[in-house]
Amino acid sequence: MKAALQAIRGMNDVLPEEAARWLAFERKVEDLFERWGYRNIRMPLVEHTALFRRAIGEATDIVEKEMYSWRDELNGEDLTLRPEGTASCVRAAIEHNLLYDGPKRLWYAGPMYRHERPQKGRYRQFHQYGAEALGYPGPDVDAELIILCARLWRELGLEGIRLELNTIGSPDERARYRADLIRHLEAHHAQLDADARRRLHTNPLRVLDSKNPAVQAVVAGAPDMMQYLGEASLVHFEGLQQLLAAAGVGYAVNPKLVRGLDYYNLTVFEWIADRLGAQGTVCGGGRYDGLFALIGGKPAPAIGFALGCERLIGLLADSGRAPAPRLPDAYIVHQGEGTLEPAFALSDALRAAGFAVVQHAGGGSFKSQMKKADASGARLALILGEDELRAAAVTVKPLRDGRPQWREPHATLAQRFPELIKAH
Ligand code: HAM
Repeated sequence: MKAALQAIRGMNDVLPEEAARWLAFERKVEDLFERWGYRNIRMPLVEHTALFRRAIGEATDIVEKEMYSWRDELNGEDLTLRPEGTASCVRAAIEHNLLYDGPKRLWYAGPMYRHERPQKGRYRQFHQYGAEALGYPGPDVDAELIILCARLWRELGLEGIRLELNTIGSPDERARYRADLIRHLEAHHAQLDADARRRLHTNPLRVLDSKNPAVQAVVAGAPDMMQYLGEASLVHFEGLQQLLAAAGVGYAVNPKLVRGLDYYNLTVFEWIADRLGAQGTVCGGGRYDGLFALIGGKPAPAIGFALGCERLIGLLADSGRAPAPRLPDAYIVHQGEGTLEPAFALSDALRAAGFAVVQHAGGGSFKSQMKKADASGARLALILGEDELRAAAVTVKPLRDGRPQWREPHATLAQRFPELIKAH
């Protein structure tokens, strides 16, 4: 026998029991997006590598070491499996001139790929739902997106997800801050770890969220971004905070929150579930007013977020709020000459009326079929044998409450079925 092949590390199968949780989660998220006026967009999983290099930034972890990139030998193109959705979404908006008649609210979903070290809550293939509000300068739409998240956590029944908020100003303001931050970090070079030293000149803002206590001590004395903000940036941030307060959305301003992608300006935010430990960020986003121009489009302000499905569904499972999978209402048992075709007709009629029906397949004795019916979790077994066929009826056997079976004429079954399901 050949050795069995296995899935790639960090890329997981979702087996049926868990997939039922995914489906329920996906329905809720998608329903909420649609109710808020966001429209679905679907982008390819593969893009030109240049798109992500330019959008996410050369000096980010994602571009430096996490992308699945390759040269397509057939036509010599450099391609990448998308590590996130914002770059593709903006690329699509530019390519199809989506903003020609005004701003757009969009959502997307699907797998993203990052070559990270797999651990609980961190995978190489993971799934996001993203929302992007394109063409809106904010801060009203900044508040809208954050309030939408707060509403989603409530509708999912999730508690203990806190919001961290920050502003990273305009590119000019950030450049001045960056220069002063580098000066400060250089003055404390001896206390920095290898990671911080490496980032010092490539991406010094990322040193701010270092987890190393020695580096944190240096960061504590670093210049404060707020001091570098001009009037317009401050007004934007103030405006957002007022709207969040009015909507009753609690938050903490975290001046060290900078996010791992370079396209952001002004508003950045993360939703964190402390219960999840190190991989506790369930959702992150921010404003990216420069991205359209950066990838060759007409400038347009924009903001969005993406949430991590694995982390949120994990939270739902841990909190016991995972929905039970849908069990069949009926299991159709059929045996004897000429019973299979009417069994199909019966299943079809009940399914068309909206019921969940499993029809036995694969033959077998009456006893073994009844065992399967019981194991299926169905409320009722509907038995179709030669006797029933002659009588134009089915035998209805309640499977859950031990009540006796009876014979029900075909003529009344469909009509009585809803009450039978309720009663048993
Ligand atoms: P991000 O912070 O890189 O942002 O990812 C968003 C969320 O995806 C994270 O908060 C986390 O829940 C989940 N996530 C990220 N990496 C992994 C992983 N390796 N395994 C499991 N879950 C993960 C973005 O991707 C931006 N595109 C968000 C955005 C949209 N900003 C503006 N618009």
